[in-house]
Amino acid sequence: MKEVKVLASTPYSVYIENNSIEKVGDYLQTAIKKPIKVLVVTDENVSALYLKKVVESLQKSGYKTFTCILKAGEGTKSMENFSKLCSVSASLNLTRDDALLALGGGVIGDLVGFTASCYMRGIKFIQVPTTLLAAIDSSVGGKTAINIEEGKNLIGSFWQPCLVVYDPETRKTLPKEQFLCGVGEAVKYAVLAGGRIYDILSSGKIDENFEELVELCVIEKAKIVHQDEKEHGVRKLLNLGHTVGHAIEKLSNFTALHGLCVAKGLYLLAKAQRFEGSISEDCFNKIEKMLNTYAFDLEIPYSVEDIVKEFVYDKKSVDGGVSLVKIKDIGDCFVENTAIDCLGEFLSCK
Ligand SMILES: NC(=O)c1ccc[n+]([C@@H]2O[C@H](COP(=O)([O-])OP(=O)(O)OC[C@H]3O[C@@H](n4cnc5c(N)ncnc54)[C@H](O)[C@@H]3O)[C@@H](O)[C@H]2O)c1
Repeated sequence: MKEVKVLASTPYSVYIENNSIEKVGDYLQTAIKKPIKVLVVTDENVSALYLKKVVESLQKSGYKTFTCILKAGEGTKSMENFSKLCSVSASLNLTRDDALLALGGGVIGDLVGFTASCYMRGIKFIQVPTTLLAAIDSSVGGKTAINIEEGKNLIGSFWQPCLVVYDPETRKTLPKEQFLCGVGEAVKYAVLAGGRIYDILSSGKIDENFEELVELCVIEKAKIVHQDEKEHGVRKLLNLGHTVGHAIEKLSNFTALHGLCVAKGLYLLAKAQRFEGSISEDCFNKIEKMLNTYAFDLEIPYSVEDIVKEFVYDKKSVDGGVSLVKIKDIGDCFVENTAIDCLGEFLSCK
């Protein structure tokens, strides 16, 4: 079992252990001893695989459980489902002592976290991620969100979970494409942090080093969250590849998967920086080779002009500029405020 402590304003532990999905109740005892009510929220795919195990484990530890099963997919991060979860919580008379538990990927985690931050001005929140992306990224750090017509994640809050439990065995039921999404976020950490994360990813031996990789990515995220919980500075680094990635997601009407868009965004950035001469040929080749090891489709089916138009709605855009995360070298990135007007030229390598 691996434990990573996240020293946010309200500290908590992330536990990574095989078969921990059957021990969520035991883990919750380390955070909340009282026999509270727990509303477990999940999606249709995950419920069929893991809901019973989680509920049984919680009940065995003395918690009173309720469940809510939502449709799978990005569309679930909606105002309608936020409202629905608030109503369900109220009808169950949940109080601030009780908790919402997100069982699933980043979609469920973001929606449930946001609801937990608003219901009764904030109730306890537990993350049980079941995708690689959620395990290494979205379940840690307290960013929560829902989407509206005008953009992705435009409504959200910072609300930390009180516990995160990840069972690496759950990767075995993940569709291949969803696993690849997690690899997309892991490549982001490899470029940001370098070192052992880069070594594991560039070797192509993820499965052999899986728990270590998850632990190292979570440690990296925890380090950044500890320094800058509300994203005033260093936390912006975690958006590497995301500015372009979000634009692609939006242009695809959210049919393109988040982690795959991040990989495309990272690649376009690296290509543009190579053209600009701000990264070495060697650094570019390392990034390209790492992405190709996992056969990412790096084609972007939209024009640079269309991508740039999307930046206007990006949360990271201020006064006609965006905070773009750029690469110096593997393990060395920085944030640069760039005028949106200049981005077209930069990204089209002209
Ligand atoms: N809050 C943050 O810091 C943060 C960071 C990164 C991404 N995100 C958000 O996360 C979301 C993407 O998350 P995701 O990639 O986990 O997608 P997801 O939650 O949609 O899950 C992907 C799919 O896999 C299925 N699934 C989940 N676990 C499974 C399992 N173990 N076995 C079989 N099927 C399983 C789900 O039902 C779903 O169909 C996006 O909305 C993105 O904006 C948030």
